[in-house]
Amino acid sequence: MTIGYSQDIPNTFRIPCKADVLVRYESPAELCEALGQFRGRRLLFVGEGSNLLPCCERFEGVVLCSEIRSVEEISNDGRAVLLKLGSGCNWDEFVAWSVGRGYSGAENLSLIPGQAGSAAVQNIGAYGVEISSLVESVETICVRDGSTRIFSREECEYGYRRSVFKTSLAGEYIVTFVNLRLRLGDAVNIEYGRLSEAVRELSPAGVREAVIATRRAKLPAVEEVGSAGSFFMNPVVESYVLERLKQDWPDIPSYPLPSEDDKVKLSAAWLIDKAGWKGWRRDDAGVWPTQALVLVNYGSATGEQIRSLAADIVESVKQRFGVELHPEAQYII
Ligand code: EPU
Repeated sequence: MTIGYSQDIPNTFRIPCKADVLVRYESPAELCEALGQFRGRRLLFVGEGSNLLPCCERFEGVVLCSEIRSVEEISNDGRAVLLKLGSGCNWDEFVAWSVGRGYSGAENLSLIPGQAGSAAVQNIGAYGVEISSLVESVETICVRDGSTRIFSREECEYGYRRSVFKTSLAGEYIVTFVNLRLRLGDAVNIEYGRLSEAVRELSPAGVREAVIATRRAKLPAVEEVGSAGSFFMNPVVESYVLERLKQDWPDIPSYPLPSEDDKVKLSAAWLIDKAGWKGWRRDDAGVWPTQALVLVNYGSATGEQIRSLAADIVESVKQRFGVELHPEAQYII
C-alpha cells in the first residue's frame, strides 16, 4: 500500500485537483487496512478517473485507488470461461488479452477507458453490449466493517448505466474483484447501428478492430484531449414522451429498454446536436465536433467552466424538447 499526501487526483479531463490523502492498495487486506486507518474521513474511490469532473482545487478527504491487478482463470469447460478480474485492471488491456486468447463477449466494449471495478459499478456499455451481460458476480468489501460480500449478477440490480453500487448501496461496498463469464469461439454481436458495415472479419478480433476504428473516428483520444467520454447519460423516458416528440421530430432516434417495456432510451447526442451545441466552444471548454455527447477540455478549462457549459446544455435541451439530461460524469465538489 502507498499513502501520499496532497496528491493529484487522476482524471481524464486533466483538470488539476489535489486530494488531502491518496492511497493505492494492492489487495482486499490493504483496502481494509486503509479503511481502518482513515475511518471517519470523507472517502472517494476512483479508478483511472475516466468518469470524474473535479470542480474544486482540493478534495478534503481520502482518495482510494485500486491496484488489485490480477486476472485468474477460475474454470474453463471448453465452451465458456470464468475469469476473476482485479478491480484495478485496466479494462481495455483486459479486453485485448481476452480477445487474444480467443474468448468472446467483451470485444464490443473495446477501448472504453477506466478499470474493471468501475466498469462493473457503472455497467459500461457500447455497441449493443453491457458488461452486466458478462458478469457472474462482483466481490466487494463493506466500508463500514471490512467484511467481504459477493453480489450475484441479480443482486447487482443492473440497468442502463446503473447498478446497486450507484443507487441504494452507493458508497457502502467497494468492488475488489469482478467475475466474468466469456465464451470460447467466434460468436459475435454486430447488431448495433452500422457496426456490421465496419466489421471485416466475423471474430472477436475483427469486432474489436471495428469498434476501435469507430470509436477513434468519433471520440477524442483521452491522451490528447481531456474528456470523460460520454458526459451525459442517454435519457430514459416514458413511451408517450417519444410519441409526442415524434410529431415534431419524426427522425428522432430511440432504443427499446428490454427491462422496462413502457420506457425508451433517447439519444442525448442527437438532442444536444439538434439544440445546436455540437462543436461549440467557450474558452477551453467545448462540445466535441464529432460526438455531441462528449464535453472536452481543450487545455486549461476549469471544472467550473465545464460544469457551467453542461448546465447550459441541460437547460437548452429541456427548453427545446422538454427532456431532462443527467450527467454520467461524477462531480467532485
Ligand atoms: N448522434 C447525433 N449527433 C452526434 C452523435 C450521435 O445525432 O453528435 C446520433 C447518431 O446519429 C445516433 C445516435 O445519436 O443515431 C447514437 O449515437 P452513438 O451510436 O454514437 O451512441 P450514443 O448513444 O451517443 C452510447 C454510449 C457510448 C458508446 C456508444 C456506442 C452512453 C451515455 N454513451 O453513445 O459510450 O460508445 O453508445 O455504443 O450510453 C461512454 O460512455 O463514454 C461512451 C462513449
